[in-house]
Amino acid sequence: MDLKKQLINRLGFFIRNCLLISVFGLANLSVADDTISINDKIYSTQQAKIGEALYKDNCLICHDKKYFRPVFKTWENQSLGTFFLVMSSSMPEDNPGSLSHQEFIDILAYILQLNRYPSGKQKLPTSTDKLNLIAITPRKK
Ligand code: HEC
Repeated sequence: MDLKKQLINRLGFFIRNCLLISVFGLANLSVADDTISINDKIYSTQQAKIGEALYKDNCLICHDKKYFRPVFKTWENQSLGTFFLVMSSSMPEDNPGSLSHQEFIDILAYILQLNRYPSGKQKLPTSTDKLNLIAITPRKK
């Protein structure tokens, strides 16, 4: 892909991203003490493993494994649901919509693992309503 095309693509992505966030992300989570966050063991390692295989086949070609750490910083205090929506509606950039809802959920579990958030027994909720209640917060050390 030549540079000009790449720049146009990025710009398009940025605009889509802004639109989605303004439509779905307006209500930033009020950070009450009982808010669930991505530190609360919300995915399982087994699920992340499924996500890892999907990630290798569909995402690694453009995003190395370190890509998501700085990305998560820019998403702090937004909901995991909004992040999921942006990711699942615009990626893979060269073929958006080529993966299923469930496949994106499993990839999301893997991204949480890449960013070293703790895993637990439960799998990620598949409903976006539930994902909307989970806050992206810095990793607790
Ligand atoms: C053909 C290349 C390509 C592929 C394949 C691809 N992406 Fe992307 N992705 C991009 C580009 C370009 C952007 C725009 C932001 C940037 O410049 O890094 C982006 C942005 C993102 C963002 C948003 C980051 C932010 O700033 O909020 C996420 C999340 C993401 N990609 C996840 C994925 C996932 C998950 C997959 C696999 C299902 C995937 N991408 C596959 C090129 C790609």
